[in-house]
Amino acid sequence: MAEISKEKIEKILELFKKCIEKVENEKELEEVKVKFLGRKSDFNQIMKGLKDLSDGDKKEIGSYANEVKKNMATILEDRFESMKNKEFSNKEWLDVTAPGEKRKIGRLNILSQTQKEIEDIFISMGFEVVDGPEIETEWYNFDALNVPKNHPARDAWDTFWLKQKTSSGERLAPRPHTSPMQIRYMEKHQPPFRVIIPGRCFRHEAIDANHEHTFYQFEALLVGDDITVANFKDVAKKFFSVFFGKEIEVRLRPSYFPFTEPSFEFDISCTVCGGRGCKSCKHNGWLEVGGAGMVNQRVFEAAGYEKGRYQGFAWGFGIERLAMMKYKIDDIRIFRSGDLRIIIS
Ligand code: FA5
Repeated sequence: MAEISKEKIEKILELFKKCIEKVENEKELEEVKVKFLGRKSDFNQIMKGLKDLSDGDKKEIGSYANEVKKNMATILEDRFESMKNKEFSNKEWLDVTAPGEKRKIGRLNILSQTQKEIEDIFISMGFEVVDGPEIETEWYNFDALNVPKNHPARDAWDTFWLKQKTSSGERLAPRPHTSPMQIRYMEKHQPPFRVIIPGRCFRHEAIDANHEHTFYQFEALLVGDDITVANFKDVAKKFFSVFFGKEIEVRLRPSYFPFTEPSFEFDISCTVCGGRGCKSCKHNGWLEVGGAGMVNQRVFEAAGYEKGRYQGFAWGFGIERLAMMKYKIDDIRIFRSGDLRIIIS
């Protein structure tokens, strides 16, 4: 039978600690475990022999042996744990199930993003988004909108006329505003309806920080039996408050457009100072966003509706101007300049 004494157990513990220090991987650690605590280990023989000791030795050596056994087991467990963590962090990971990384090659231009935001807000208010042609006939651009030939109001739209004409000899122009789509839409639809028409417009303009030759507008048109200016103000206030993410006040000033009666110039409370007055609003608390009004009955007639049968409101706002207000851009020319801050940031 193996010698059983506290010294012998102590020696085993010392040897165990030395072996543990040299261990470099899990396999070696497993071997140490078997060698010192396995069924055939010296230590296990000692544990088995404890029962044959005198009562006094049994108590003293037995409790010491148990303490050493626990000690060795704890050391082994800790080493297993730290080894697992080490191996985990050393390994190079390749998770073949992970989704691929999308290459960053740019993003939508701020103008397209703004157009999409505008469309989403109107869709949430029950509007339909409609598209229309960029090259228009003189009839849709002006005549049907109650802008008579040779009338001075026509000069307000600095139109590029094309050399090419329609087969019936009608003049053609890249549209200077989105209003011609009012007629095209009403020719094919009966009220009640609510639509917005975002689109590119072209004007023979002197370019400056607020004017481009090519720019975007969005037309809104809401027609029904008893639509009033109050409906218009309510829709506009809701739209601008969502668009700017804060409570916005709206203001109408009398204006003139041949296709609306009455007509308004439409202002919103300054999005920077909230109306108190600052540099952005030239210290008057308001920002001008576009033209609007109640649809002129002559326009309804031109679209084929019975005169006096319906009421509606319409407006045409510049998308660049709204993007400039929202994103604090101080020059409209930047949208088409290829400036990287607009294209990829
Ligand atoms: C019109 O174009 C009317 N069709 C608007 C309208 C529609 C009135 C429906 C009533 C009913 P105006 O020319 O003011 O109106 O242009 C409207 C908006 O388009 C302007 O307030 C501005 O935001 C934008 N805009 C006009 N010209 C330019 C330009 N050269 N560059 C950038 N934005 C412009």
